[in-house]
Amino acid sequence: MKQLKFENISFKYRKKDIINDLNLTLDGKKCTALVGPNGSGKTTIGKLLMGILKPEGGCIYYDDLDISNNNLSYLGGRIGYLFQNPAKQIFAVTVRDDLGFPLRMNGEKEEIIHKKIDSMTDLFHLEKIIDSKCHLLSQGEKQRVALASIFMREPEYLILDEPTTSLDQVRKEMLGQSLKKVKEKGVGILLISHDKKFVESYADEIIEMGDL
Ligand SMILES: Nc1ncnc2c1ncn2[C@@H]1O[C@H](COP(=O)(O)OP(=O)(O)O)[C@@H](O)[C@H]1O
Ligand SMILES: [Mg+2]
Repeated sequence: MKQLKFENISFKYRKKDIINDLNLTLDGKKCTALVGPNGSGKTTIGKLLMGILKPEGGCIYYDDLDISNNNLSYLGGRIGYLFQNPAKQIFAVTVRDDLGFPLRMNGEKEEIIHKKIDSMTDLFHLEKIIDSKCHLLSQGEKQRVALASIFMREPEYLILDEPTTSLDQVRKEMLGQSLKKVKEKGVGILLISHDKKFVESYADEIIEMGDL
């Protein structure tokens, strides 16, 4: 993927303007951070990109394709979205089953699923928890599992909404290292965050909501 582009996007919740005539280009290979105060519309932008919300005006392009009215199933396979609360996107009983779930649903061969689970275990440091029960994991572990599950589907772009919330310094660094590896694989990232220190360490560019 080369770029995601917002062109004159506007969005309202009921009658309240949240996004007004927004123009924004996200480089498909970079880690772009979106920062700004609470309530400034960061989460709304992520949801508009995913197609969870529809813009009232303007267009959103995925490379040159207009995706403003595309449904979640089209984008879901291409853009990975990590919710602020990762527990919401973990479905299976064990970590191993959660990672395998989306590919099994698609009828993928077991041999390929096992190989991929091994490579995700490596990428997201899951060695110690791969056979653990998901509901017993810490917040940081759940987040790594959710990210690994997203990566099983080989997304072209990743949106992370406040991924450092409730992570301690060590877990933040682990997340940062995982993001670096993700980027090395050619996957771009939109990092929505109010964690300035984290953003300054890992983002290639920073966009402040106040500046848009
Ligand atoms: N479901 C909703 N219904 C009505 N207003 C909402 C809803 N979600 C968010 N808002 C409002 O939209 C604005 C932007 O919210 P949001 O995108 O979540 O901001 P941020 O992620 O930057 O904190 C806020 O004023 C918020 O109160
Ligand atoms: Mg938010």
